[in-house]
Amino acid sequence: MSFNVAEAESIGLQILQSIRDYGDSLNAGREVPEDALSILTACKELQALVTSPADWVFQMSTAHYRSIAVCLLLDWNLLGILAKAGGELSLGRLGDILGVSKPMLRCTMRECVSQKIIGEPLPEVYQLNKNSQFLLDPEMSAIAHHYADVGLRAGAYIPDYIARTKGSLLDSPHTTSFQAAFGNHSFYDFHRNVDQTRGARFDTFMESCPRSELIESFFPFNNLGPGSVVVDVGGGRGHHSIRLATEYPQLSLVVQDCEIKMPPTQSVAEEAVLERVKWQQHDYFNEQHVIGADVYLLSNILMDQTPA
Ligand SMILES: C[S@@+](CC[C@H](N)C(=O)[O-])C[C@H]1O[C@@H](n2cnc3c(N)ncnc32)[C@H](O)[C@@H]1O
Repeated sequence: MSFNVAEAESIGLQILQSIRDYGDSLNAGREVPEDALSILTACKELQALVTSPADWVFQMSTAHYRSIAVCLLLDWNLLGILAKAGGELSLGRLGDILGVSKPMLRCTMRECVSQKIIGEPLPEVYQLNKNSQFLLDPEMSAIAHHYADVGLRAGAYIPDYIARTKGSLLDSPHTTSFQAAFGNHSFYDFHRNVDQTRGARFDTFMESCPRSELIESFFPFNNLGPGSVVVDVGGGRGHHSIRLATEYPQLSLVVQDCEIKMPPTQSVAEEAVLERVKWQQHDYFNEQHVIGADVYLLSNILMDQTPA
């Protein structure tokens, strides 16, 4: 393989400079995300430069190995087991605790170690690292688990789906890639009626999303007067409504969903706040029966609803 040493050195120097800039801004008490990004971009360029095309292309084609490894890690609650054991266990001990084949576990752990999800301080001794510590947070774990499990399975059918639809977006009834992967059930039917474990995990996934994108950052709820009513259509377990009721004491909120799903106990707000939040069963394909509300909140519900 040809290797351009001068180009690699130049990227290496750029990385060094970016690391210094990033360190200086952190030391000065400023977090500049662009500095971190320029380190990562330059590292990726260097990685591409020193990797053979065969390795690069085959790594990309086998990206699903990563999702499979994350999914198994979470299915087996392997990180919880490591945490309970003080953060470190050998392959043999882990295999015994889980009751799974050691060669299979070894394969999974190799992928997790190579993707830096798990540390390996000694051969076949596994240790929690900063990424696995992050996954010990149940909300972050729900997001990663949903992507690695449901996302991977449904995603595997997308090429097939695109071949079937000849690359067009259909507005007539059709079988989606999710349905192809999950026994012909629609997304919500599956999560509501077929697999309630995945259903609860999906609700946690949705409740963890607002951290990065708060509705109140782009709608002036403080302009609404006392007694104003907000209807949270398809509001799940009511995470937006509970937050809005906490932040805006003048509001009353109605959480509507196809079934009444109460919030998990750890997220329940004060009683005085909950007095202003009501839960209603309502199918949003039916006529709205809360008439004249001040706001109808439609958050993350206007997606593909083509009937199958
Ligand atoms: C993607 S989640 C969005 C939850 C929340 N609005 C948010 O932004 O985080 C979609 C929600 O719509 C609900 N849903 C799906 N179909 C529905 C229907 N026909 N009528 C009412 N709710 C429905 C689901 O149960 C789920 O809670």
